[in-house]
Amino acid sequence: MTLPLTVGQFEAQAAEILSAGSLGYYAGGAGDEITLVDNVAAWQRIALRPRVMVDVSQRDMRTTVLGRQRAHPLIVAPTAFHKLATPEGEVATARAALGAQATYCLSSLATTDVTTLAQKVPDANRWLQLYVFKDRGVTAQMVDAAVAGGYEAIVLTVDMPELGIRERDLHTGFVIDLETGVPHVSQTGASGLLTMSEVVGLIDPSLTWSDVEALAQQSGLPILVKGILEPADARLAVEHGAAGVVVSNHGGRQLDGVLSGADALAGVVDEVGGEIDVIVDGGIRRGSDILKALAIGAAAVQVGRPILWGLTVGGEEGARRVLELLLKEFDNALALAGVPVAADLNRDIVMPAPWVI
Ligand SMILES: Cc1cc2nc3c(=O)[nH]c(=O)nc-3n(C[C@H](O)[C@H](O)[C@H](O)COP(=O)(O)O)c2cc1C
Repeated sequence: MTLPLTVGQFEAQAAEILSAGSLGYYAGGAGDEITLVDNVAAWQRIALRPRVMVDVSQRDMRTTVLGRQRAHPLIVAPTAFHKLATPEGEVATARAALGAQATYCLSSLATTDVTTLAQKVPDANRWLQLYVFKDRGVTAQMVDAAVAGGYEAIVLTVDMPELGIRERDLHTGFVIDLETGVPHVSQTGASGLLTMSEVVGLIDPSLTWSDVEALAQQSGLPILVKGILEPADARLAVEHGAAGVVVSNHGGRQLDGVLSGADALAGVVDEVGGEIDVIVDGGIRRGSDILKALAIGAAAVQVGRPILWGLTVGGEEGARRVLELLLKEFDNALALAGVPVAADLNRDIVMPAPWVI
């Protein structure tokens, strides 16, 4: 299979393949999509200050997250409904992640359940993204299945007490058919065709910080709190026992007009970076974006939509290719920035770009 060479080309090809509803769901953001667009632009507003005449013959992409050394800092972000992209769904994604030595974070809204994924791809390093459903019994079952299935951590998403207003979905009339299998949603008793607003209506909007402690206790797993933009919230995450935070605006899909991950990252790193892991997502489309994120102080980055484009264009192989091309670009950026060891990256090599995008 001849696969594209850049994330941008994967996106263009995927747009030709997906139905209007699936494409709008995957690609879209909330409101005027100001944050969606800015997520990409914000990385481009960071200029790099490379050093030369450094021996870069040996490069080292390794990073430490949750106390464990990883081959590189790329994580597959939790995204819903992979069977809209490829019939194998999340099994293909997990295999792609395994092939590229990346951690895969399974969504609560996956089209594959927690246990099946663990059985089918036991060797992948897996995290579970958790939405706390109003039906706490379903949530408890998912957590138990994650523990039994050898998931390494729980990523608690906290920026979706209700759905952002996603106008592309309203225009296409996007609904998810539970008959095609969204197992953890069906466990709540829901059935038939659901709008995203109805799906998210199953999630408990009364969640507060004490739930983080309860979840850590119930699971015994490290908890990463996803959807942090403000340093004060990162501090609260630390105080309530989180092992890390994911600086994220949910891919521009929730409150339009909030800061990009790129712009929110430094404040959160300055507040809690010495204490817990800080991961960032939103708009990572190039290896040089990974370089910038680590230079600012992230331990790792998550990628969302690029993986969906890879899955759409080439299933498991396509998703793996997306990861590999981002890693190749990252390796290249380490060499050309004159910082061959990722762990040595720091803010000396970044500055606000003098250009405006
Ligand atoms: C189609 C789609 C579905 C998503 N589903 C989830 C989800 O189920 N849980 C979650 O925590 N985040 C979800 N996200 C947000 C991603 O985890 C991530 O924050 C975002 O996609 C990162 O931005 P990027 O797509 O620009 O890389 C979703 C994002 C997209 C695009």
